[in-house]
Amino acid sequence: MSNEDNKKVILKVYRTNYNKDDSPHYDKFEVPVKRWTTVLDALLHVKSYSDSSVGIRYSCRMASCGSCGMKINGRPSLACYTKISELKDDVVVCEPLPNFPRIRDLVSDFSQFFSHHKNMKPFIQNDKVSLDIDDKHDLVEFEQTHEDVDRYLQFSYCIRCGLCYSACPTVATDPKFPGPQALSQAYRYEADSRDDSKKTRFNIIDERHGIWRCHFAGSCSVVCPKGVDPALGIQLLKGHMLGLSKNNKKLSNLRTKNKE
Ligand code: SF4
Ligand code: FES
Repeated sequence: MSNEDNKKVILKVYRTNYNKDDSPHYDKFEVPVKRWTTVLDALLHVKSYSDSSVGIRYSCRMASCGSCGMKINGRPSLACYTKISELKDDVVVCEPLPNFPRIRDLVSDFSQFFSHHKNMKPFIQNDKVSLDIDDKHDLVEFEQTHEDVDRYLQFSYCIRCGLCYSACPTVATDPKFPGPQALSQAYRYEADSRDDSKKTRFNIIDERHGIWRCHFAGSCSVVCPKGVDPALGIQLLKGHMLGLSKNNKKLSNLRTKNKE
């Protein structure tokens, strides 16, 4: 067994309970870790053997449900997807996600975040499709080419974990700004050839606190654990709203030039 499989680290956990008006403080716990121990494993160890009252939210333990987001050593991350050995630090600081109201310890309130997401009408809308499943006459098949799918595919990998929202400097100063997750989802449906409700979404985001407040900091794309590039989605959506190009060609060219 290597030394790495027999280590101990200090877990420094942010504690507070807003319902009880507790003053925020940090509790420290010594936790045994192996190469594959994740921050979520370590927190569950604390709950099992040291302090069962530590508040965390989690479910899938495999970077799928998006519920274990927190700030780990200063960076918004998924606790179940962050191996302690990769942090290369003997102290692991766990704090709640910035830009979210806090509830207790590492648990944040996602109401506003989900309300922004819902406002974007994140589903396919098309007048040709009947929502009545018994109305067989109105069933229509939509064909899509690989290119059609490629336009929105990466954005459909979003698990709504909120890490991009917590890293966004515009959300930090304007909670009415929909944020990178909601805006990139607006792009996901805008770019889908099966959807024909473009104007409705444009009307929602083309306002004072809307899409034009994004100044392309790019931190959203850096922290996304699923490889989504919300900053790109927002810029492509701006291009669509300006009528730059139906198939993103001009913006894709701009991107290529910027990378050169
Ligand atoms: S875009 Fe990425 S970081 Fe943002 S909510 Fe979706 S999965 Fe999480
Ligand atoms: S527990 Fe589901 S994403 Fe971490």
